[in-house]
Amino acid sequence: MKILVTGGLGFIGSHTVVELQNKGYEVVIIDNCSNSSPDVIKGIRNITGKDLIFEKFDLREKDKIKEFFKRHNDIEGVIHFAASKAVGESVEKPLLYYENNVSTLVYILQQLADKTSASFIFSSSCTVYGQADELPITEDAPVKVAESPYGNTKQIGEEIIRDTCKVYPAIKAIALRYFNPIGAHPSAEIGELPIGVPQNLIPFITQTAIGLREQLSVFGDDYPTTDGTCIRDYIHVVDLAKAHVVALQRLLEGKNTSNYEVFNVGTGTGSSVLEVIQSFEKVSDQKLNYKIAEKREGDITAAYADTTKANNELGWSAKSSLDDSLSSAWKWEQKIRS
Ligand code: WQD
Repeated sequence: MKILVTGGLGFIGSHTVVELQNKGYEVVIIDNCSNSSPDVIKGIRNITGKDLIFEKFDLREKDKIKEFFKRHNDIEGVIHFAASKAVGESVEKPLLYYENNVSTLVYILQQLADKTSASFIFSSSCTVYGQADELPITEDAPVKVAESPYGNTKQIGEEIIRDTCKVYPAIKAIALRYFNPIGAHPSAEIGELPIGVPQNLIPFITQTAIGLREQLSVFGDDYPTTDGTCIRDYIHVVDLAKAHVVALQRLLEGKNTSNYEVFNVGTGTGSSVLEVIQSFEKVSDQKLNYKIAEKREGDITAAYADTTKANNELGWSAKSSLDDSLSSAWKWEQKIRS
């Protein structure tokens, strides 16, 4: 069975391709390589020993999408990762984000609308909750006014899919609201490859530990939390990848209870920035050079998932601990800098 993975050379995409191939799916990747490299294909192959089809083009080229689906008319499922995802950049370049994250979603859905049956998995984010009123966060928590154009594109994307599935019953969709994906495949054949100065905590930590960065700035230590630093739900990227496969299987096997479903994908456990640093120092057996700095604009105090729905309906739960995830991130950093 052929599955399209857009953005399949990216961090979460590549790990999901590995899990799809492990389950015997034939994978086709579309990626414009704006934030990834074709070298990732070699890493995937080293893990699974399987080949895949890769087509390099930009999903903003609507005609190319139409032509692609004509050539690959046997695609039965789509996992849609391709999007711009830097919160700060989205504030500076909103039109780029609305074009790249929203219009391309519409173009893909338009191709699925003509099919007799299509399963669609959407890469959403816990960002849609903003600072939730209650923790842990359930899927019923209200979607808050987005704090960034990036977060808004995820909210809009979910609404587009919801409305589309109402009119095109052949399209069955699941939105997965990721919490904070971290780590790398245990083989260290694939992992996160941030371009430039990392915005996210874990790659900044590992780059500091390896000597690429001078010092980690902890953005604020006077939040209303146990140690004053922000709390997040850090989920191993392989656990997250596996959630995509079980969600896709749910749709392909017709086990979905409605045409559009939403699931939180996290560990259900919150960790503070200082707890992450302590865990990293333990697994890397070295002290991390960090300082307390000013709060970062737009950061929320705490977010971690209530994963009951995914546990019960997908039969999925995260298996890796924070230590495991950080250990895999460190192994990956050491590998790519060796
Ligand atoms: C985590 C914590 C920072 C860097 C973002 C997006 C979200 C998703 C994941 C795409 C925060 C602190 C960070 C640093 C720090 N992206 N931090 N020093 O902001 O929770 O989520 O990435 O889907 O949509 O919003 O992740 O890793 O940037 O920050 O102290 O150098 O680490 O303040 O508390 P975030 P993050």
